[in-house]
Amino acid sequence: MTTLQTLHLRAIEADLNMAAQLLRNGQLVGFPTETVYGLGADARDGTAVANIYDAKGRPSFNPLIVHVPDVASAKRYVQWNNTAQILADRFWPGALTLVLPLRDGHGLSSLVTAGLNTLAIRVPNHGTALRLLRLADAPIAAPSANPSGRISPTTAQHVLDGLAGKIAAVLDDGPCKVGLESTILGLTPDVALLRHGGVESEQIEDALGITLTQSTPEKITAPGQMESHYAPKAHVRLDASNIEAGEVLLGFGTMNCDLNLSEHGDLIEAAANLFDHLHALDKTGKPIAVAPIPQIGLGRAINDRLRRAAAPRG
Ligand code: TXA
Ligand code: MG
Repeated sequence: MTTLQTLHLRAIEADLNMAAQLLRNGQLVGFPTETVYGLGADARDGTAVANIYDAKGRPSFNPLIVHVPDVASAKRYVQWNNTAQILADRFWPGALTLVLPLRDGHGLSSLVTAGLNTLAIRVPNHGTALRLLRLADAPIAAPSANPSGRISPTTAQHVLDGLAGKIAAVLDDGPCKVGLESTILGLTPDVALLRHGGVESEQIEDALGITLTQSTPEKITAPGQMESHYAPKAHVRLDASNIEAGEVLLGFGTMNCDLNLSEHGDLIEAAANLFDHLHALDKTGKPIAVAPIPQIGLGRAINDRLRRAAAPRG
């Protein structure tokens, strides 16, 4: 990856316009929210989203939270319902992320949801974040802006310490007030607490007049993602150097195959294509052979996902 001169932008008009323009051009921008600094990318741009994983050095693809400026924008991407409306009335803008079914024609990269048919979405309670989201006029995918395995950043300097040279810019608007990630609530359609965070579970129970089933800590920290992650129905065979009768081949690099993750052997492009290609090949109903993917950079996250797709399931 080339080293970038990371811009240190301030919460002034010219800099906000610059940050919005960078996002619209598929660049990565660190930005403040009330919880922690997020590492933002246009959620419709698969290459930009792949670059989030690359910059963070994430060894696996977790689905990401998409940030929007208001409920009307959220409704463009998810199937809204009454429970979501009650929660949004009470907690948005704020540190509550809702997981809802994706809407048809949502236009988001499949890498944002790691191939799931649900989307985590929230409206941050932060004036600068909201101005940026409106100026960018794009759904912004953003995990915390720290290298994988390091603590979440609550100042722009933390972001620079971890990611300078790897992202186009950080938008500095001082320290985050909450300092802890958002609470994540599944509404698909059962109400399920997926992660504790900035909004207390008691407040959610109060708003909905229900008692949340307390997920065990293990369930929360290793979010049901392992099982809920998209897995093809068909058998998946990895590191395939040949194609066997009846199989379809998912290629990488120059080769004859049914679909190619990246003809140029580009791991960012391969990551951006991964879930769409798996879905498309799965639709053929045939077993899927997958060409070897180098275990470097984003190749590690791709291989992690492929190993889980190939693992025997019960
Ligand atoms: O406060 C926050 O939420 C911060 C700021 C930047 O907004 N963002 C954040 O993002 O913490 P991240 O990527 O670190 O956390 C995303 C988590 C995933 O690890 C996963 O647990 C959950 O959100 N998630 C995302 N999409 C999901 C889905 N469709 N189903 C279940 N869980 C999902
Ligand atoms: Mg994080």
